[in-house]
Amino acid sequence: MQRNYAEDFPILKNSTSNGKRLVYLDNAATTQKPASVINAIRDYYESSNANPHRGAYPLSERATELYEGARQRVADFLNAAGPDEILFTKGTTEALNFVASSFAMDIVNEGDEILISIAEHHSNLIPWQMVAKAKGASLKYLYTDAKGELTEEELDAKISPRTKIIAVAHVSNVLGIVNPIEKIVGRARQVGAAVVLDIAQSLPHMKVDLQALDVDFAAFSGHKLYAPMGIGVLYGKRQHLSKMRPMLYGGGMVEDVSQQEAVFLEAPYTFEGGTQNVEGAVGLHAAIDYLMGIGYDEIKGIEDELSLYVVEGLLNNPHVILYGNSHPHNRTGILSFNIEGVHPHDVSTILAADGVAIRSGHHCAHPLMRHLGVNATCRASLSFYNTKEDIDIFIESISKVRRWLRLESK
Ligand SMILES: Cc1ncc(COP(=O)(O)O)c(C=O)c1O
Repeated sequence: MQRNYAEDFPILKNSTSNGKRLVYLDNAATTQKPASVINAIRDYYESSNANPHRGAYPLSERATELYEGARQRVADFLNAAGPDEILFTKGTTEALNFVASSFAMDIVNEGDEILISIAEHHSNLIPWQMVAKAKGASLKYLYTDAKGELTEEELDAKISPRTKIIAVAHVSNVLGIVNPIEKIVGRARQVGAAVVLDIAQSLPHMKVDLQALDVDFAAFSGHKLYAPMGIGVLYGKRQHLSKMRPMLYGGGMVEDVSQQEAVFLEAPYTFEGGTQNVEGAVGLHAAIDYLMGIGYDEIKGIEDELSLYVVEGLLNNPHVILYGNSHPHNRTGILSFNIEGVHPHDVSTILAADGVAIRSGHHCAHPLMRHLGVNATCRASLSFYNTKEDIDIFIESISKVRRWLRLESK
């Protein structure tokens, strides 16, 4: 029998929501944390807390080992060329802002083009608006087709010799669609553009091998990967990091400082000014260990089966409008939908009464909402710790929404 992974998550075992068992289907917003991650953070504070890279005493050395051990673990996990290509950040947003301000600002010139997709999260959109405005470049969009996918024709039409940067999500946080990164990178190489990949929504569900993908930068948030909030990662190829300016100046990133000058350390330290989030790094290390103990084959197997089951349940309801490709091929378990005649906020409020947590709104993707012709959607997003019983409760709750609002009599 399949293991019930919810057992590993204290909040899922113990919590009720509106007096009902919590059915947590908002995993694209943030994931819950397994006991092993919570314990690793507690152990860190009970046995190893000190400021890393600062003290010569054993406690500080231990904190340094944990912090750098986490960096090595992330490098191995993503198949980076080495730990020096891994920078700890607060999350995806900070990582992408850093690429925009410390890389793009120096290589984008007037008349150049920055290309993103219409389905980007605002954190992979607004920084590029800023760069385009500051440098007199134009921000162009790859539009998704009716199934939410980026076609080869669209790539061919939009990637040009003027393209300097292509910044896209590996997986859309609204539609769950997996974008054709190999094809994008192939075309980017032909025109000499750099590729920035947002892996916030892919890494929790699939193996990401950054050397195989050959992207220039990649960013993710720990909290969507079963690790704590406040820790994230920017991966950057050595050839870029060695030339980039720091974003934060201060302690911990310098080799020598005189009254008028400072000599900076090399990557990754030059980019990590100030005291770092060691607790977060320790939690991220534990989360990766936990996930790799399960394995992506198992994770994907469970999530694909659940995803099919949800789609089937939703499409059985004639009032449900599902956005994007309904087939699990080429998508993860992020499902955006609406119920005819009902505002998404009403749907999520009604579901909350049954203990079901989903997201409603624009999902930090205003341009995509306009492209889809809606103001907002409901979003259910799955994890391997969800069960068919969770989905049954969710689908049953959905079936009550229109009756509840007196749009149907029975
Ligand atoms: C695809 C994608 N990119 C970026 C972000 C921003 O992540 P954070 O708020 O953790 O920085 C999110 C968060 O929802 C996301 O889904």
